[in-house]
Amino acid sequence: MARAELFVALLCLCLAGLATGAAGTRKMVGVYELRRGDFSVKITNLGARVMSVVLPDSKGNLADVVLGKDTIAEYVNDTLYFGPVTGRVAQRVSRGRFVLDGKVYHLYKNDGMNTIHGGGRGFSKSIWTVKEYVGSGDSPYITLYYHSFDGEQGFPGAVDAYVTYQLSSPYTLGVHMNATALDTATPVSFLLHSYWNLGGHGSGDVLGHTLQLFASRHTVLDDELLPSSGRVEPVAGTPLDFRTPTAIGARIHKVKVMGGRVVGYDANYIIDGEGMRPVAIARDGASGRKLELWANQPTMQLYTGNFLEHVAGKDGKVYNQYGGFCLETMGYVDAVNHPEFPSQTLRPGQVYRHDMVFKFSF
Ligand SMILES: *[C@@H]1O[C@H](CO)[C@@H](O)[C@H](O)[C@H]1NC(C)=O
Ligand SMILES: *[C@@H]1O[C@H](CO)[C@@H](O)[C@H](O)[C@H]1NC(C)=O
Repeated sequence: MARAELFVALLCLCLAGLATGAAGTRKMVGVYELRRGDFSVKITNLGARVMSVVLPDSKGNLADVVLGKDTIAEYVNDTLYFGPVTGRVAQRVSRGRFVLDGKVYHLYKNDGMNTIHGGGRGFSKSIWTVKEYVGSGDSPYITLYYHSFDGEQGFPGAVDAYVTYQLSSPYTLGVHMNATALDTATPVSFLLHSYWNLGGHGSGDVLGHTLQLFASRHTVLDDELLPSSGRVEPVAGTPLDFRTPTAIGARIHKVKVMGGRVVGYDANYIIDGEGMRPVAIARDGASGRKLELWANQPTMQLYTGNFLEHVAGKDGKVYNQYGGFCLETMGYVDAVNHPEFPSQTLRPGQVYRHDMVFKFSF
């Protein structure tokens, strides 16, 4: 708790700094809007987080299609990861432990016996520095920077990370992340944990959205959502098969049993092909909104908000189970403990690059 309290105190200090306009405070927390016509996105540097994405529907009605909180203060205790970039290693690391170059590293465990999303105070809980910000015009963008120190949450060596959010063509949000290891080799894999609901956040569940995934294989995950067997299997013939557009809810009740309980999708897909390529298309029939995701990462975790339960969201809305879905492009889950998966080791001199493009239409 001491850690959390210190962080809240620090955040309040920063907010106070912002309120009084104190010069020289390097890490103030703020909300930054990017706007291009009637398409607008709000970002905060607390966790390099997407707070809102507003766009019209086929009748011209605007809605905010990501789940989240109204104020930065409410994100401080967020354990559901509403919209942040997570790292240094996203998703789960088995037993919070790995070996790199013959050395054993122990991470902070924040998911039972395992580590999730970089540990207790990973990138998503950290205050990033705003490097550049252009809020309007043809190509509004914001670039955020975070220096992850040697030993942070147990990871080896220091890392410099950048995330740029940019509105380039109409109704298109680009997300460009990069990282370099400054002195020591370290695993690196980030993801963006936005919950989408194309009908508008708080408009109910997403079970009626249709989803298409350009993925014919998935990583077999165990009851702890770890790829303990290291097996990669075809999705064909399973409820995970979204190769043709299918309602999210069509087979969700057959999908996963954790301790005898049906939960929902929390599956890791191997995206077909390589490089920048189509990953997913989601469509909401009622509003006519469509989202197309392209990315350059090997896998994507599909999460259907299985554990949302009476969560207070923006505008007085309440989020419940399946109230949003996450399309988390990333490296292989727990690659640090699976030599059979592509390596996530970033060595000094190398550059990690993660690009995503969300193209909306209606
Ligand atoms: C966060 O949680 C702590 C501990 O439960 C609580 O004291 C604090 O008021 C909360 N902060 C916010 C901003 O909600
Ligand atoms: C990472 O992105 C930032 C912001 O766009 C850029 O300034 C920097 O040069 C990039 N780093 C590398 C190694 O490409």
